[in-house]
Amino acid sequence: MRSIIIDCDPGQDDAIALLLAMSSPDELKILGITAVAGNVPLELTERNARLMCDIAGRTDIPVFAGCAQPLRRKLRTAENVHGRTGIDGADIVEPKQLLEAQHGVDFIVDALLAAEDDSITLVPTGPLTNIAMAIEKKPSILRKINEIVLMGGAMREGGNSTPSAEFNILVDPQAADIVFCCGRPTTVMGLDVTHQVLATPERRDRIRRIDNNAGRATAGMLDFFNRHDTAKYGSPGAPLHDPCTVAYLLKPELFEGKHCNLAVETESELTMGHTAVDFWHVTDRPRNVLWMHAVDADGFYALLIDRLSRYENA
Ligand code: BDR
Ligand code: CA
Repeated sequence: MRSIIIDCDPGQDDAIALLLAMSSPDELKILGITAVAGNVPLELTERNARLMCDIAGRTDIPVFAGCAQPLRRKLRTAENVHGRTGIDGADIVEPKQLLEAQHGVDFIVDALLAAEDDSITLVPTGPLTNIAMAIEKKPSILRKINEIVLMGGAMREGGNSTPSAEFNILVDPQAADIVFCCGRPTTVMGLDVTHQVLATPERRDRIRRIDNNAGRATAGMLDFFNRHDTAKYGSPGAPLHDPCTVAYLLKPELFEGKHCNLAVETESELTMGHTAVDFWHVTDRPRNVLWMHAVDADGFYALLIDRLSRYENA
């Protein structure tokens, strides 16, 4: 059983990652969910996270609001991809799940300080502001972290927000730099791998047949998400970026990766947020990440559909 903290900016794909994680209590003990500004502003990302707890029937999991702005740059959002609410396509109501009063960064610090060394997995699926703030605030939390499994960056695929940069890293490159240099084992799901898990019409049909609230919410969100991404990429379906992190926790054998150096561009405006991945080891820089580059997409969707089908509230 892994103890995890999910740090997210829902976002349809973050929301689906949450539903996947909350469907798997035998493998994942979710200590808390922290929201960060990213796809949409913080007041929407924290609301969307709470809504997913309602849908999953997991109001036992506390939700915290973290940082509303990146460390140094002005917030850049992505309503063009995710819609005005961040989770367009889902039925949006005011969640029953309440927001915790504590700041998300303080929750991360306290939860880690209270834990055994090397015992907590962090699962960031948005800009890395909250995680970097927590590390800066209390560097002694680092030894408590067993692994960081995050979605962000791109190598072969190029950027999705600028020609060079993937969205999560571009929004807060300074935070990303702190996290990638933190010295703890870090597994990275970049666009090279997430662009392989496409929500094709056939896969969306299978999700639409799941007869419970989580299945319906996922199908609705994917219908919306798909419109933008199929037009953008000319692909048969949208990539399910963020759920790759949770799928890896549940079934690591679905993924293939390589230990590499990853460095973030934090100076150049032209290539800001670029992740320079030393895939062929042409430098002697330390291999600070496990860079994922291949996934069994059918296995990924089989896992997602199996887990979402486990919710009982049909
Ligand atoms: C990432 O950016 C957001 O749009 C998604 O939620 C995902 O975390 C993909 O670049
Ligand atoms: Ca996200």
